[in-house]
Order: sequence, then structure tokens, then C-alpha cells
Amino acid sequence: MISVTLYNPHPNQKKIHDSINLEPYKYYVINIGRQFGKSLLATNQMLYWIFKSKCDCAWVSPVFNQANKVYEQVVRAFANSDGIIVKRDSQKLKMTFCNGSTLQFFSAERYDNIRGFTFDYLVCDEFAFIDEKAWTEVLRATILVKGKKVLLISTPKGKNHFYRLHQLSGTNEQYKSFTMTSYDNPMINPKEIDDARFTLPEMIFKQEYLAEFVDGSAMLFNNRTMKISEPKGKCYAGIDLGRADDYSVLSIFNDIGEQVYIERWRHSEWSTIVKAISENIRRFDITTTLVEVNSIGDVIFELLEKELRGYCVVEPFTTTSQSKKEIVEQLIVANQNKEVTFHQSEWLDQELEMFSYEYNPKSRQVRYTAPTGFHDDGVMATCISFECYLKHKGARYTLR
Ligand SMILES: Nc1ncnc2c1ncn2[C@@H]1O[C@H](COP(=O)(O)OP(=O)(O)OP(=O)(O)O)[C@@H](O)[C@H]1O
Ligand SMILES: [Mg+2]
Repeated sequence: MISVTLYNPHPNQKKIHDSINLEPYKYYVINIGRQFGKSLLATNQMLYWIFKSKCDCAWVSPVFNQANKVYEQVVRAFANSDGIIVKRDSQKLKMTFCNGSTLQFFSAERYDNIRGFTFDYLVCDEFAFIDEKAWTEVLRATILVKGKKVLLISTPKGKNHFYRLHQLSGTNEQYKSFTMTSYDNPMINPKEIDDARFTLPEMIFKQEYLAEFVDGSAMLFNNRTMKISEPKGKCYAGIDLGRADDYSVLSIFNDIGEQVYIERWRHSEWSTIVKAISENIRRFDITTTLVEVNSIGDVIFELLEKELRGYCVVEPFTTTSQSKKEIVEQLIVANQNKEVTFHQSEWLDQELEMFSYEYNPKSRQVRYTAPTGFHDDGVMATCISFECYLKHKGARYTLR
């Protein structure tokens, strides 16, 4: 007879455990904001199954590091309890317990490796960040035959496959859904969450802390206006210089916050790109051109300055993670307030649509970026030129 003490769930975690352990549903789609204790809840639920009776369990995280972290946590939890874990393999991230139960951790990055397994219990942590195909093509099959309970647990990521499964509750008798917010963790001081609210764009806060399924992609620049505008009054230019496979982009705003021009170049000699950019700038009545600089930018900056001397002021804009965050957030809020319009351009529209962020709830840091395989040079040039416009207006937006 072994005795294992699990964690002490807070009341909202207990509600979920009670449903899992007392109700007949098979699939639990658990949608909750950051730092609620989702991973802790899932780990303890899994250990409960493991010790209740002999079973085979799997834990899937989006990337290897996350899976490995939970594996290490479980190993550490039993480090001083001889004979509970009787076998473990830190390569396969697999362990066997004294009652014969097994637990194996997987990353969904290479989900083909999970093909062919069958499990009694399955937990997918950060499910919204797992490739939908990992679920439909591989994971779902692993719990079809002997599968008893499946936890699909996450903070939302737009209205993707996690949202669609979350909707099944009520229409499919095998599914049960939960939604809770970070405020539902009584162990977090609500003031801390309020603090995050004031330092994040509204839709990011809603998604990350309130677990709202914010509309699709395009969430950062939703409800935007794309149109052809006239270069009224003074204009303001911004240039994002592209390395390797990226584009160099020129964007221009007029005096009332309308983007009047955007164009991009790549795979040409720098001298050719500089010439093309300068020619286009001279077509407009430009006050200042803001040029993104870094190590290679400096040389191009000098070329541009020389080319445009006597025509307009050319100023450097140094991109750091902080300065990038600031100019992106200025554009996000201006768009929310309907105080900016974008030039009608298909590729820019697509970049704005795809532009996204990564959020680290521990450091509360947001990083804005295009998803892998997509460009953000157009968005960045737009941000830089909008920054040029705002600087001249002496205007600044606050997040709330
Ligand atoms: N019942 C509990 N007892 C003690 N600490 C808890 C409890 N629930 C959560 N915590 C603590 O809250 C913090 C967040 O827990 P956890 O990482 O499980 O949350 P999460 O919802 O998975 O977070 P994230 O959204 O960042 O993935 C951890 O420090 C964890 O130890
Ligand atoms: Mg977690």
C-alpha cells in the first residue's frame, strides 16, 4: 500500500477536478487565463489517475522544453520517495511507477513520433498552441480504444481548433468545457492582474488573462481601414531595411494619419534599393524620413542621407525589443481609436492580418512578430513612418 499526497487545489481547481472525477465526460476542454494553475492542476490529475489504478498516461506540450520541464518536476517530486518511480528514461521522457502505471511526455513539434501509441489518459497542455494536425492525425487516435479521459487545457489563441472543440460542450455528450480567468486563482493578488491590464493592449489582456476567444488572427489590427489616400500637407516617411530574404520597405503617412504609400524591394544591390527609395521619397513633400538602423543599417543610412541631403531630414531609428514594442503599440492603439488608415495594398493587408505576438506571463513581456514563414517588414515600416508622424505631431497614445 502506498500513500502519495498530491497538491491542495484552490476552490476553482477543485471544481474542475470534481467534474473530471465524478462526471462521465471523456473530453475536457479547459480554457483558462494565465497563471491560474492549469499545468499544476493537470499534473496532479494525471498523478491521481496513475496511483488510482494501473494505466498508461501521456502528457503532450507544444515544444520539447515544456514537456521536459514537467517531466523534471515529476521526477523531482518523488526524488525523496524511494520506490515510487521504479524506472525512468530521460531520453524518452518516460517513467514507470511502482504499480505498473506509465507516464510519458511528448512534444507536439514532431507529433509523428506519437503515432501508434495507445493511452488510457491524455493531457495536452497549451493545446491552442499545438498544431491542429497533431490532434486530428495522431493524438485523437491514441485514446480512441482504451482512452478514458482527455484534458485539452490552454489559454486561447484566437478562434482556432481549441475554440472549436470548446464549442462542442452541450451538443456532444462526450465533451465538457470550462472557462475561467486569471482572477479565478485566489492565490494571485488581483491587483497584479489589474497591473497587467494597464500595460498590455486590450485584446492581449482579454485573451491572456480573461481567456476570451478574441476574433481570429488580425486581432492586433482588427477593424482596420485600408484605402487610397491623398498626400495632403506635409508627409512623413519610414524605412525598414531588409536583410537576406527580407524586404526593404518605404512607407509614407500624410499630415492627418493616413498612409498614402507603401512599396517594397528585395534581392537587389543596396545602391539600387537606395536609389529607388530616394526617387519615391522625392515624389512627396516629405518633412522627415525615419530610417531603421542597426549594424548594417548604418551604412545604408549614410547612403540615404547623402541621396536626400537638401531634400528632407533623415533620422535614424534604432530598433530594440523595447523600441519595437513601443512603436507597434502606438499603431495598435491608433487603429483601435480609428485614428489611422492603411494604404490599400494586398500584401500589407495580409501582413497586418497575420501580425501576432508572444506573451511570457512570468516576465509579463510581449514580443511582437510575424508567425514563422511570414513577413513583417511592411508592418514595421508602417510603424516607423507612423512614429515619424507622431513625433512631429507631438502626439502619444497610452494603452488605456
Ligand atoms: N493550488 C495551488 N497551490 C499552490 N500553488 C499553486 C496552486 N495553483 C497554482 N499555484 C501556483 O501558481 C503558479 C502558476 O501555476 P501554473 O504554472 O500551473 O499555472 P498555469 O495556469 O499553467 O500558468 P501559464 O498560463 O503560465 O502556463 C505556480 O507558481 C504554481 O505553483
Ligand atoms: Mg501552464
